[in-house]
Amino acid sequence: MDKLAIQGGARLRGEIRISGAKNAALPILCAGLLTAETLRLENLPKLKDISTSLTLLGHIGMQVELDDKNSVDLQAAHLDKLEAPYELVKTMRASILVLGPILARYGEARVSLPGGCAIGSRPVDLHIKGLQAMGAEIHIEHGYIHAKATRLQGARIFMDTVTVTGTENLMMAATLANGATVLENAAREPEVFDLAQCLIAMGAKIEGAGSDTITITGVETLHGATHKIMADRIETGTYLVAAAMTQGQVRLLGTRADTLDAVLEKLREAGAQIDVESDSISLRMQRRPRAVSIKTAPYPAFPTDMQAQFMALNCIADGVSRVTETIFENRFMHVQEMQRLGADIEVEGNTALVRGVDKLEGAVVMATDLRASASLVLAALVAEGETVIERIYHIDRGYECIEEKFSQLGARIRRVH
Ligand code: UD1
Repeated sequence: MDKLAIQGGARLRGEIRISGAKNAALPILCAGLLTAETLRLENLPKLKDISTSLTLLGHIGMQVELDDKNSVDLQAAHLDKLEAPYELVKTMRASILVLGPILARYGEARVSLPGGCAIGSRPVDLHIKGLQAMGAEIHIEHGYIHAKATRLQGARIFMDTVTVTGTENLMMAATLANGATVLENAAREPEVFDLAQCLIAMGAKIEGAGSDTITITGVETLHGATHKIMADRIETGTYLVAAAMTQGQVRLLGTRADTLDAVLEKLREAGAQIDVESDSISLRMQRRPRAVSIKTAPYPAFPTDMQAQFMALNCIADGVSRVTETIFENRFMHVQEMQRLGADIEVEGNTALVRGVDKLEGAVVMATDLRASASLVLAALVAEGETVIERIYHIDRGYECIEEKFSQLGARIRRVH
């Protein structure tokens, strides 16, 4: 299995291009199920999660034509199977995003329950309750969600927890429902907004996406469209933190600062100088980072997907910080690995107390989930000597060409087989 070997100590310098957002691409690919016409998507990132999603959509019967310029043509003129099997869903929870679209368009869908995953139990009860409120009959049988509805009916749906994919699933389902659906306490994440823009281009009637109340007025059919997927704000944030930790100077192209306010604010607090242009972000760090306390919460607050990276920064920062995780119950798995590199971290409940140390030391560590693995790369970039990261398939799920991009910025990083 592939590993990453990283020699710490290089200051990151230079420019790289940020890829399309994985978490926007995943729901938007599923939006292709809502129409018989062609949906063309641009700026698709080349990632394991995207190929898993395309395999699932192909299995269901969607025609998928990838070109080599990060674009894909999707056509779901006719579906062979209205089912997402366990073998595919278990490798990627976001597969649940096919449930709403298939049910809305075909009146029936069978999707495997995702089951547990490394970062917590992550239930899908709100997806199910929302579809039931829209008139779907749902049975859980043999580990599958089996949903039926002749035609979904518009409804007022209050979600008691903010859920990103839950909001996306229900928003997609509601586009073809009879009447208006109002989603209350909806997720405000930029990826939800991007999906809404794509659906609107396909003929959907959606108001309020990006706020906590989204109103969708159902239409009879949706049509084909072309949509460019937004830049990945988490990939952007990860490279910015890397530059800050190595006291470097980088410019990230093809990305936008307005989706990253909470993260940029914390980087400034750590001592970084940040310059923003319409489609690029530059960061310069001329000192050891100051420790910054963070608390994760739904957008626009600090993203849970950036928690591990800031933990890495705090490990070598000047001072003591508290990192509090409020979204997922088991998202501190990187702590033990960082301790192997010499970090001083104490976990109590959902808070980690991090005392910055003068230096980390290279060691063999293991990636446990996507964002945790990115944080290990960041720690390795500043550790003395070599760090080898095992199980990097987690990284390949969400970071396109990670070793090429870091090498382009001057890091000493290579993939070993
Ligand atoms: C999405 C992102 C993921 C990110 C997360 C939180 C995608 C593909 N993934 O995951 O990268 O870390 O948002 O920003 O976009 N919950 C319930 N019932 C439900 C659904 C969720 O209780 O039916 C809870 C979860 O257990 C969790 C919280 O709601 O505690 C937020 O989860 P959610 O926003 O649904 O995460 P995902 O959409 O799976």
